[in-house]
Amino acid sequence: MFFLGIETSCDETAAAVFTDEPRVLANVIASQTELHAPFGGVVPEVAARAHLQKLLPVIDEALRRADVTLQQIGAIAVHHTPGLVGALLVGVTAAKMLSLALEVPLIGVNHVHAHVYACRLAANRDIFPCIGLVVSGGHTSLFDCRSALDTKLLGATLDDAAGEAFDKVASILGLGFPGGPAVEREAATGNPEAFAFPRSFLHDDRLDFSFSGLKTAVLYATFGQGKVDGPLPEGPRRADLAASFQRAVVDVLVEKARQALRRTGLPRIAVGGGVAANRTLRSALERMVEEEHAELFVPPIPLCTDNAAMAALAVEKWRAGEFAPADLDAVPAFAG
Ligand code: KG4
Ligand code: ZN
Repeated sequence: MFFLGIETSCDETAAAVFTDEPRVLANVIASQTELHAPFGGVVPEVAARAHLQKLLPVIDEALRRADVTLQQIGAIAVHHTPGLVGALLVGVTAAKMLSLALEVPLIGVNHVHAHVYACRLAANRDIFPCIGLVVSGGHTSLFDCRSALDTKLLGATLDDAAGEAFDKVASILGLGFPGGPAVEREAATGNPEAFAFPRSFLHDDRLDFSFSGLKTAVLYATFGQGKVDGPLPEGPRRADLAASFQRAVVDVLVEKARQALRRTGLPRIAVGGGVAANRTLRSALERMVEEEHAELFVPPIPLCTDNAAMAALAVEKWRAGEFAPADLDAVPAFAG
């Protein structure tokens, strides 16, 4: 049984072909980074128009790489929530049309839950029940995942997502877009203890996050208290700001993940989303799970950032008979 997966929720146009094992046969991603870079962030309409241009060629390429014809596809999976509505609509519309034309089931997949499922794909074995930690440009959420389809939200960010904070701090420090990898590179030579940045809710008995105060603290440390711009920092000072910021984000993510493991008694944690590509976060999580006698799953980088292979969560839905209606909608907000 072959599935075609489609992802257009933000700024990657992606298609994947996978089997019901699930095994990924092709995972094609067309990035729009260069299109958005001049604007310093993702421009929703630019993203939607680029999806419109790229989606069919990307699907063709995925089928070619998988050596599977469209007629062999037995179900269409699409990330239909959450994301930028115009961007999601392109993928959802294409998926509906393909499902109708091929007379195969349509399966709607939650993009955030799919980020956790990327760990299941990479591990190639069952990882549930586990804690799911999704750290991306749009989300910072902790889940109690009893199974791939039975997930309960334990906590989430009250303001900025972790990736969003990386992107905004990159912009403050003049490091460009996308911010995460740029801040990580800059931080490599900096002192993570040079600045004492805030760590919201660190020891509170709640599993929520807040990164907007941290972002403001970096802004004021860069330009002076109450100032929102000025000469860009350079050299070791810029590296220290990046490293101290990164350490603050990592400390909070790791501590909340630890609290989630302890609170639920679950022995495993699966981490997904673009920020999971961060090496400092990965090594801090490795140390934490060792202390907690738990097991850590983090996918390789191409499965951390947005992709359509993680839509293989649809295989679980297919087994459970959870198909989407023909009027499946694109839902921008995350509903838990
Ligand atoms: O999961 P993703 O590709 O897209 C969303 O669903 O949002 O995540 C993108 C986010 C961006 O904010 C990007 O700056 C961040 O992930 N990111 C990183 C790194 N690579 C990507 N953040 C920190 N360190 C990285 N190496
Ligand atoms: Zn994502």
